[in-house]
Amino acid sequence: SKKPAKKAHKAPTAQIRNFDMIEAFYANYPKKLAAVRTKLNRPLTLSEKILFTHLYDPEAVKEYKRGASYAEFRPDRAGTHDIGGPMAILQFMVSGKKRIALPAAMVCDHLVTANAGARKDIAFADHYNKETYDFLRTVSRRYGFDFWPAGSGICHQVFLENYDFPGGMMLVTDSHTPTACGLGMLAIGVGGADLVDALMGSEWELKMPKLIGVKLTGKLQGWASPKDVILRVAQILTTKGGTNCIIEYFGDGANTISATGKATIGNMGAEVGSTTSVFPYDSHMKAYLKATNREAVADLADGVAKDLQADPEVYAHPEKYFDRVIELNLSELKPLINGPLSPDAAMELDKVGDTLAKKNLPENIEVALVGSCTNSSYEDFTRAASIVKQCLDKGVKIKTPLIVVPGSVRIRETLKRDGILQQFEKLNATVMTTACGPCIGQWDRHIGDKTKVNTIIESFNRNFAGRNDGSKKTQAFLASPEIVVAMAINGDMRFNPLTSTVTGANGVSFKLATPVGEELPAKGFATNVGGCIIPDFKQVPVVVAPNAERIRLLTPFPAWNGKDYVDLPLLIKAKGKCTTDHISPGGKWLPYRGNIDRISDNLLERATNAFNGKSQSVWNVVNKDYESPAKTARLYKNKGIQSIIVGDDNYGEGSSREHAAMEPRYLGVVVVLAKSLARIHESNLKKQGVLALTFVDPKDYDKIREKDRISVLGLSQIAPGKTVTIVCKHEDGTEDRFQAQHSYNAKQLTWFRAGSAMNALGKA
Ligand code: F3S
Repeated sequence: SKKPAKKAHKAPTAQIRNFDMIEAFYANYPKKLAAVRTKLNRPLTLSEKILFTHLYDPEAVKEYKRGASYAEFRPDRAGTHDIGGPMAILQFMVSGKKRIALPAAMVCDHLVTANAGARKDIAFADHYNKETYDFLRTVSRRYGFDFWPAGSGICHQVFLENYDFPGGMMLVTDSHTPTACGLGMLAIGVGGADLVDALMGSEWELKMPKLIGVKLTGKLQGWASPKDVILRVAQILTTKGGTNCIIEYFGDGANTISATGKATIGNMGAEVGSTTSVFPYDSHMKAYLKATNREAVADLADGVAKDLQADPEVYAHPEKYFDRVIELNLSELKPLINGPLSPDAAMELDKVGDTLAKKNLPENIEVALVGSCTNSSYEDFTRAASIVKQCLDKGVKIKTPLIVVPGSVRIRETLKRDGILQQFEKLNATVMTTACGPCIGQWDRHIGDKTKVNTIIESFNRNFAGRNDGSKKTQAFLASPEIVVAMAINGDMRFNPLTSTVTGANGVSFKLATPVGEELPAKGFATNVGGCIIPDFKQVPVVVAPNAERIRLLTPFPAWNGKDYVDLPLLIKAKGKCTTDHISPGGKWLPYRGNIDRISDNLLERATNAFNGKSQSVWNVVNKDYESPAKTARLYKNKGIQSIIVGDDNYGEGSSREHAAMEPRYLGVVVVLAKSLARIHESNLKKQGVLALTFVDPKDYDKIREKDRISVLGLSQIAPGKTVTIVCKHEDGTEDRFQAQHSYNAKQLTWFRAGSAMNALGKA
């Protein structure tokens, strides 16, 4: 029965990127799963099926302790963008490998500022970000990324339209990567160092996630939309409730939601801190794959459909197989508005006005925004357009300026072809570039006054202070696109689209009719969409302009010289919380993430010196004065002086930002010794060749004095599980001696000796 199916999809597969890999995946999936079943011999959730069939070592199938033990995986695909990509690729280049180990795509979406509308903004971005784009274009061609230039779309939308497939596993350097759950993929947002693991083809490590099952029953009614599902889930779980968890949706209700609606739900799973979200494969995913010319992928998925969902026993008794189960009746779900400043602060529409009044926030809405990577589907736009149309038909002028950010060129051109974008424009909406723009602070906002406390409403995903327009005064509220448009009509947060009336040009008041939309375009998606540059692996020279500000090629860190570290000056003894954001802040430093030299100027900018309680003030042993850690470390580097950082509890917690490990390494820090190290940061330190140690007795932290010279002895015998000796020579001639421990395994010790994991892996 297999043969005819193959024949039927022979022609279109040529246009499906990496179809060979996808075909091999589906051919192997049943075998791999059978091996998992033999070992575990119990019913499996969908998350487990995907996780276990992606273990790096298929022999490593066992009962992992969820939320505690670590497992190593081999993803099918990877992706990155113009902020996450540069440093990851620069590191990959150090390894000397000729090509990346798995199919991957690079999308230029974050560095486009939304200002004057699509065409002008792209021209400006191409000029302003030339260094970064030239670099990314050439490395993509050479090492094997599909390259999507600025203006092609937002990465998650691009991935959904082109690459995602049911049952697969994907890593992308962006927290909203789980958008791919719209097509049943297990897709996880990671830091650059993790991406490098995937690009190198090495093991990618993850704490085995706990599982939250969300059982959906019923069917969305009226104004309620998939966005409201996740706004409600966020309210239930709160912003921390999904940490180290996969959210697995199931139930009859799941099958009533479009693929793109599921994508919206997965996208905002990031707002509750979850590792990712997943939905079982269904007819909506099949329809979306077909509509995006991937019928052949749907055919293959159909062949294993019963294992692209959990086993029936799991659905019968979910409480036995999930760590937590939440039930949601879609038929009862009402539209919600979440905010301000936190995506979990959900309100039903009739509560919004009073809540704002209590918080003394403006009820007047200054800007309304629809689109972004969260809500850019045909269904989203047609539902919102059905509200727009009512305004146009009745001559209603909307009070709040509307901004439209389509998630990709493909969706934008489809909407244009079908006359939908034009309707928004008739209502005076501004259509911005198909890029992140106002979602990530890349928004040169001209509307209203962002210097005063002001209210905006958006169909995006994040509403933290300073997120959209960079202003901490802006209070952003999240809602579905149709609610956003409806709220823009009166420009007033007290307006309730379900009950309030709108006055037409003829002075007659009317109630808005319930939004209606189409799941997929009847005429298919627009095909006049270019964009992607396919790599040819030609060994083209990598373009980095001389004196480039944004990109600096990395030279490999030097190998360890085989000797103990002796008499290191202390760069800082950090006190209290010292997250990766304290070590390498973002904000204005963002554009320099591809230039290690430039970005190292922010080293430890926000860390507190334990001796004076100040930031940006550490003792410089050369100048004999207090200076910033970055200046001090740079002077040491220039003089060939190595140094040590001492940290408090959970040093390096927060994001997986590898710059927090690379910068100290670049400026000559060879040891980080802390009471305890945040796990991902510890792993990043190891990868960059910085010796990561913890005090055997955390009280020894108190023995470190400001002007100490610190030695680490016993390094030639360093071995897994063996301690090393720390000697602190104090200024008064006395000294303290104590033990420090490490968590290196034998492989990681080869990284230390080689100077970095890249050096070691490049030699392998
Ligand atoms: Fe992130 Fe861009 Fe979406 S900033 S949230 S990927 S629009």
